[in-house]
Amino acid sequence: MSSVSLIDLLSHGRFVSGVELAERLSVSRTTIWKQLNNLEHKGIAVEKVRGRGYRIPGGLSMIRLEGLRSGLAFLRPCDVVELRLFDEVGSTNSFLVGDSGKWVANNFYLAVAEAQTSGRGRRGKEWFSPYAKNLYFSLGFVFEGGFDSLDGLSVVVGVLLAEALSNEGVSGVELKWPNDIYLSGRKLGGVLIELAGEFNSRCSVIVGVGLNVDLDSESSNPIDQPWTSLKAEGVRVDRTELLTKLSAALMGGVSEFLRIGVGGFVERWAAFDYLKGRCVKTFGVVGLAMGIKSNGCLIIDCGGQEVLINSGEVSVRLADDSD
Ligand code: BTN
Repeated sequence: MSSVSLIDLLSHGRFVSGVELAERLSVSRTTIWKQLNNLEHKGIAVEKVRGRGYRIPGGLSMIRLEGLRSGLAFLRPCDVVELRLFDEVGSTNSFLVGDSGKWVANNFYLAVAEAQTSGRGRRGKEWFSPYAKNLYFSLGFVFEGGFDSLDGLSVVVGVLLAEALSNEGVSGVELKWPNDIYLSGRKLGGVLIELAGEFNSRCSVIVGVGLNVDLDSESSNPIDQPWTSLKAEGVRVDRTELLTKLSAALMGGVSEFLRIGVGGFVERWAAFDYLKGRCVKTFGVVGLAMGIKSNGCLIIDCGGQEVLINSGEVSVRLADDSD
């Protein structure tokens, strides 16, 4: 028996007796008890009430592989998508980086996890990845044009995610250059893009996305900046449906980007630009953010002089932030 099937029986959030759980899974009550302990070790609160049984208060929205597969088949019937759903993995990005040597052109590789034990953010930070709370997924594909032609992909990915979230009824989504996803002035999600392979020819691109979905505002966590989640903003979603929409949007948009480049996305970026008109600072530069160039660079006006900031490991912060 796997803990996933026990979760399946409890994910609706109602009480189920220990006897019924044992019968439905054809295991002993002791095994059920051990599995319930495992759930608690994964950070899932299980409530026990004598005479009623066990429940997960509030229930859990688990990612359904078949739902994801059929959603993607319907949306992109012509694409080949290799799909992996992990109950737990170190990092979906790291998994795809390790797998990328055997990839073929025109395929998409999608790795999704309910939890990451070593989730990675930008600038070497940890990405908090508790079980069955948020979305953690990575999309990989082969690109034949070399690293340089991928300039602007960060911006494109941000636009695609922001548009997909807006289409799903999440209003007020903003993008902090190059692709932090913001809601109500706090970080809702982030993107980690990694490249593997040859510098000048064929390379593998891995686009990793983390999005806070059901993270509770009252529970403690190690996130070191103002953050929010869809739940904290009063938005309830089915994680499988949202994941399907976001990954389908990325696949469609990445194909478009590979055909036409970043230019077509610059106007679309403007609808979500969190920094525009704000005073920002980055290494050695303080000025007014003025949107982005046709190649995806951030424009900063430093007292009348235009400074362009490339995508990459540059941190842009509001000038009145202390860190
Ligand atoms: C950021 O720092 O803003 C980027 C966060 C990216 C997190 C995602 S979660 C899925 C994928 N796997 C990882 O280890 N990181 C990315």
